[in-house]
Amino acid sequence: MGMLHGKRILLIVAGGIAAFKSLELIRRLRERGASVRCVLTDAGARFVTPLSLQALSEDRVYSDMFSLTDESEMGHIQLSRDADLLVVAPATANILARMAGGMADDLAATVLLATDKPVLAAPAMNVRMWTHAATAANVETLKKRGVTFVGPNDGAMACNEHGPGRMSEPEEIVAAIESMLAAGRPPLERPLAGKRALVTSGPTREAIDPVRYISNHSSGKQGHAIAAALSHLGAEVTLVSGPVAVADPPGVRTVHVDSADQMLAACLGAGAIDVAVCAAAVADWKMAKPFSAKIKKKPGAQPPALALEPNPDILATLSKSGAGRPALVVGFAAETENLVANAIDKRKGKGCDWILANDVSPAAGTFGGERNTVHLISATGVEDWPTLAKDEVAGRLAARIALHLARPRSAEAAE
Ligand code: CTP
Repeated sequence: MGMLHGKRILLIVAGGIAAFKSLELIRRLRERGASVRCVLTDAGARFVTPLSLQALSEDRVYSDMFSLTDESEMGHIQLSRDADLLVVAPATANILARMAGGMADDLAATVLLATDKPVLAAPAMNVRMWTHAATAANVETLKKRGVTFVGPNDGAMACNEHGPGRMSEPEEIVAAIESMLAAGRPPLERPLAGKRALVTSGPTREAIDPVRYISNHSSGKQGHAIAAALSHLGAEVTLVSGPVAVADPPGVRTVHVDSADQMLAACLGAGAIDVAVCAAAVADWKMAKPFSAKIKKKPGAQPPALALEPNPDILATLSKSGAGRPALVVGFAAETENLVANAIDKRKGKGCDWILANDVSPAAGTFGGERNTVHLISATGVEDWPTLAKDEVAGRLAARIALHLARPRSAEAAE
């Protein structure tokens, strides 16, 4: 059953080039079990047709405030009453201004003014429009009134400029919707409410000189998915991430770092935590003394010798017993051979409670991919999980963590 089963989304499509992505958003929401009803502005109709929205949502599309049939069959109040959540995607500078100003000059603005339901906006506009003081003030006003924002992302834009303004991808908007609806779920569905989690993710970068670094291919997909899954179950999550291309998960406090030293400092600065999951691929070594200026090639000279020293071990540091130790510390072991035996040793060596062992040999083909085959190793045994998508691994791990943290202390001691 989809995570949004039975949820009713009212999608307001305003006039921006990103409106084409709203078609994909409808498809993804429906795949997850939500029903989607669309309101299309006049400007939006210049970019997508009512017919496409209607075909994908399998519902009629609302656009005309003064159409008698709309008012008799479905007034603007009813449109919002029948929804669990309103999503404005794309949210143009114009509709954000109209929302902030409390305008009711078309059906979309009227529905947004009349609603008492949560509202999510996915801004999409030219970078200068996004950074303009007027838009910034409107966004600030709307945030104060409780509107949630997802994006915009940085990147190349249709107007040949580069910077923030691109609408979030449909899957990011779906994740934001899921986390908003999760926040309203009853406590039983949010077993980690009141718990604080720390997750590390992505690679680290160790400077050789101001322009060069040592790093690895970690994508951060697994760590970010774990942060999102813990947050979905109600935990307050701090994600400490190395440089990655994946977006910050909505609802998660994300701290961006480069080096292992910075990652450790951010983890230690996260305050008291109940569970730590170290999914980052921390570089094992850093330069003993990074060069302060760019290393220059000198004709005929030998390549420079790079003197390395070990990085701090974040997982081992967090696992050290003491007053502030989290109740549960989870690590990862990426192995290419003797997977389980090496991971058992690694768990003991690092002092963590659980380790998720994954096979990163080329034959397994999982490194950097979308799926993962893991074994959960604890002090009591080894559990083999089937090959799952990374967000399924994350969901399963989060559920196991919730179960573990819910146990009385005596049961924990016996484990
Ligand atoms: N880890 C860490 N800090 C480090 C190194 C690793 O927190 N400086 C954590 C990783 O996040 C992961 C686990 O430790 O949870 C993996 O340990 P590591 O020994 O680095 O694993 P591999 O890279 O698999 O080990 P090895 O190079 O020994 O095979």
